[in-house]
Amino acid sequence: EREFKINIAIDGPAGAGKSTVARKVAKELSYVYVDTGAMYRAVTWDMLNRGIDAEDETAVLERMGAIDIELVPGDEGQRVWLSGTDVTDEIRSLAVNRTVSRYAQIEGLRAELSAAQRQMALRKGVVMDGRDIGTTVLPDAEVKIFMTATVEERARRRFRELPESDEAITLEQLESEIAQRDELDRNREVSPLVCAADATVLDTTNMTIDEVAEAIVRQADLKLSRT
Ligand code: DC
Repeated sequence: EREFKINIAIDGPAGAGKSTVARKVAKELSYVYVDTGAMYRAVTWDMLNRGIDAEDETAVLERMGAIDIELVPGDEGQRVWLSGTDVTDEIRSLAVNRTVSRYAQIEGLRAELSAAQRQMALRKGVVMDGRDIGTTVLPDAEVKIFMTATVEERARRRFRELPESDEAITLEQLESEIAQRDELDRNREVSPLVCAADATVLDTTNMTIDEVAEAIVRQADLKLSRT
């Protein structure tokens, strides 16, 4: 067991492989993995269920007060609970994919989720992935990674993780939806998806999961040996 702990921030666009890699890195270091995208997804799923549109910010923020999100580590990966209901599979649906970026633009909503994320990282030993972790949520993270891959490769990765129950969608459609979502995430006013000045950029298009995870663990080890 390592005596000191650090925080690791992993950002990048949809489908870059952040969550798979982050989970692996966390496992290797015996750290806690926090998937912040799952939190934005859980909120979105709740809002869709209640018929609260992202345009209606007042209603969204009012509803936020009643939402309780829990990320529970498990053998087959993290489970996501929303006010007592397991929504792990539901939040990966196309309906959520298509609307989450609209809710994620709401400043008050981001402020609440960011504060919760900071709480989770207070005691260090966290691998957190998202869009704004290295820039906004954990600007002091000891290791910051910005993961990218071509949009074609990212669409292929996302295609494989769609729930079976979903409507048929072609790889090409998914690719254009991902490109649109990137566009929204990169251009929103609050905490847009940008690479932190002090982040290491990893283009994972031609890298295996193991290679990417290893590169990150190596950076963590360097920091840990200097702490
Ligand atoms: O990583 P993901 O695809 O599960 O993220 C879902 C959406 O949530 C994505 O469109 C952008 C948003 N998001 C965000 O704005 N900030 C984060 N830290 C994580 C996700």
